[in-house]
Amino acid sequence: MAQIHAFDDARRLARRRLPWMVFDYIDGAAGDGHGEAANRQALRDIHLQPRILNNVEHRSLATGILGRRQALPFGIAPMGMCNLARPGADRMLAALAASRGIPLGVSTAASTSLEEMAAAAGGQAWFQLYFSGNRDAADALIARARAAGYETLVLTVDVPEVGRRPRELRRGFRMPFRLGPSQIIDCAMHPRWSLSTLWQGRPELANFGGRFGEFDRTSSRAGADWDLLSHIREAWRGNLVIKGVLDPEDALRLKSAGVDAIQISSHGGRQLNGALPAIHALAAIRRAVGADMPLFYDSGLRSGEDIVKALAAGADFAFLGRPFSFAVAAGGTHGLEQFTDILQSEISIALAQLGLTDIRNLSVAALAPATREMLRYGH
Ligand SMILES: Cc1cc2nc3c(=O)[nH]c(=O)nc-3n(C[C@H](O)[C@H](O)[C@H](O)COP(=O)(O)O)c2cc1C
Repeated sequence: MAQIHAFDDARRLARRRLPWMVFDYIDGAAGDGHGEAANRQALRDIHLQPRILNNVEHRSLATGILGRRQALPFGIAPMGMCNLARPGADRMLAALAASRGIPLGVSTAASTSLEEMAAAAGGQAWFQLYFSGNRDAADALIARARAAGYETLVLTVDVPEVGRRPRELRRGFRMPFRLGPSQIIDCAMHPRWSLSTLWQGRPELANFGGRFGEFDRTSSRAGADWDLLSHIREAWRGNLVIKGVLDPEDALRLKSAGVDAIQISSHGGRQLNGALPAIHALAAIRRAVGADMPLFYDSGLRSGEDIVKALAAGADFAFLGRPFSFAVAAGGTHGLEQFTDILQSEISIALAQLGLTDIRNLSVAALAPATREMLRYGH
């Protein structure tokens, strides 16, 4: 079995196995991909400050968020149609979440129902809600999430309209998944994926269909506003996380609105090509909201060191999207286990290099002075 030693291995192996249209759906971004590259570059430009001789023999990566202990400081970001990466991918992700004790975002556009995912993830599933423009439909999904036992709802707010992703468009990628002549050629060129997917059945938007109505991925969600947020805050008494925030004023308003956590994210560069790097927004938002507001971060994280950078720059917890999708595409359950071990070990090694023994003590003090200045955290 091919080995994954780093994100690049998972991506390369996934690229080999997946039809071009599926690879481009996962890997793609808005516009020419500049925004996604800017997220990566901004993370590269963050430098850490190693410290020595602190006796770092015993190190803890456990942290606490939303009133729960988490064994590791990262989780799996919500992604629609994960079973495109590999048949059964959703269940593999849920099993990983349960066995490692890491949160798993279950998308409105998931390819396994939110009820099945809650049952499989051992209390680690968080339901991610897209507002489709219809409050009754949102209320119905919230009621299903509550009935299924979810404790945390993630409302994604950075998709008022779905971003144009030319790599998907060129391949004719659509959801629900449909095959035209060029997709048939694509599938024929990737027989391992095609045969296993044919065998297990075409991935579907499993939260919809029949009595649950339809979901159009491309439909406008532009009607979401602050009034909708108040409505959802009223309707959902569990933890409420707002995902896709890049502006300090918005973050302050969310804090006043009583949300439990804010997820700084540029949707992995999939929405607004010209958006500022999400890691810069994280620092600005942390400065605005103060030390106590729980802030989560995703977009562009590819390694344990990247996670350490996000935590040092102000996040309480981190999420990764594409890396988990590629890990499951590349190696199924084994790929996920390997990649999680890599992140865990990279975080632990980075902590040692920084002279720290507890992930909860990671702070801006771990950033090199020039980086602190760049993020306007002072010296
Ligand atoms: C294939 C794919 C599907 C996604 N689907 C959703 C989704 O349904 N809901 C959502 O809130 N975010 C979705 N996202 C965004 C992720 O939750 C996350 O913000 C992003 O992947 C983080 O960036 P990264 O991929 O660089 O780690 C998706 C991302 C990818 C790659």
